[in-house]
Amino acid sequence: MSPSALLSLDGTRILLTGASGGIGRAIAVALARAGAELALSGRTAAGLQDIAATVCAEGRSVHLLPEDLAVPEAPKRLVDTAADSLGGLDVLMHVAGAFPADGAGRFRPVPLVNSEGEDWAPIVSVNFTAALELCRSAYPHLTKSPSPSVLLLSSAVGLMGASAGEAYAMSKAAQISLARSLAVAWGPQNIRVNALCPGIVDTDSSEALADNETLSHWFLSRTPLGRWATEEDVALAALFLSSPAAGFITGQSLAVDGGMSVPGSGFTAPDDARQAAASG
Ligand SMILES: NC(=O)c1ccc[n+]([C@@H]2O[C@H](COP(=O)([O-])OP(=O)(O)OC[C@H]3O[C@@H](n4cnc5c(N)ncnc54)[C@H](OP(=O)(O)O)[C@@H]3O)[C@@H](O)[C@H]2O)c1
Repeated sequence: MSPSALLSLDGTRILLTGASGGIGRAIAVALARAGAELALSGRTAAGLQDIAATVCAEGRSVHLLPEDLAVPEAPKRLVDTAADSLGGLDVLMHVAGAFPADGAGRFRPVPLVNSEGEDWAPIVSVNFTAALELCRSAYPHLTKSPSPSVLLLSSAVGLMGASAGEAYAMSKAAQISLARSLAVAWGPQNIRVNALCPGIVDTDSSEALADNETLSHWFLSRTPLGRWATEEDVALAALFLSSPAAGFITGQSLAVDGGMSVPGSGFTAPDDARQAAASG
């Protein structure tokens, strides 16, 4: 198979949640350019208009299926409607996510001791419960697909933990565990299940972190590649994991974080020590 065929999603029927958000939009564009048939979901139809126009400009048709995934019956309704609209389902991508946010919807870490149940309720609904319900509802459709897979948009904090935003980190760790568990359970049906774990991504939702000089410096000093992820970095990894090139990859958590989650990051030797080592 040629390299371009290995990354082709020509005719692949994909349901993408979170398609109205920064990362979701970039993923939708990458999937459309690879030839996928898309059902895109966000909370509102209005929020999906821009990405729908972009996908159509790529010459692809698109189905817009707004749903609030915090509503208990929404995930199953969304999956079944997507499968009806697309004529089947090959890939489920759960990118929608809830996180601790300020009034403008920007990520704002809050320690557990300053939180209450109502603060983490949306996180549990969208990141945890909806992930389970979407996967469970997708299973009967995926078993009929020639190349089925699931991708859960987790986070590097799911791998590492986070000292503020513990509920969010826990929900993202749960997605990693779900990917591993379903990879084992559904492997015999040839269904691949993986998790994607970005570090800090340069999106509107992480703007508040970027604006905080101390926090921004702290993150960058622990990121060996010395920058934040772009939305395209994450989109390319999502494309890879749903493509034929990743046909024997399942149960994995792929960090797209510039090395932030590597245990040795943040422990870089000072310049003078490195120079001394280099000069023998
Ligand atoms: N940005 C980062 O640095 C970063 C790092 C690691 C992981 N992530 C993860 O990446 C994913 C996308 O994040 P992002 O930065 O692109 O954030 P974003 O721009 O705020 O997008 C969030 C998406 O989730 C959807 N969503 C939220 N609550 C929902 C609900 N109750 N029902 C249905 N959809 C809902 C939003 O829909 P509406 O537009 O309708 O609100 C939007 O499409 C999330 O899972 C996040 O946890 C982000």
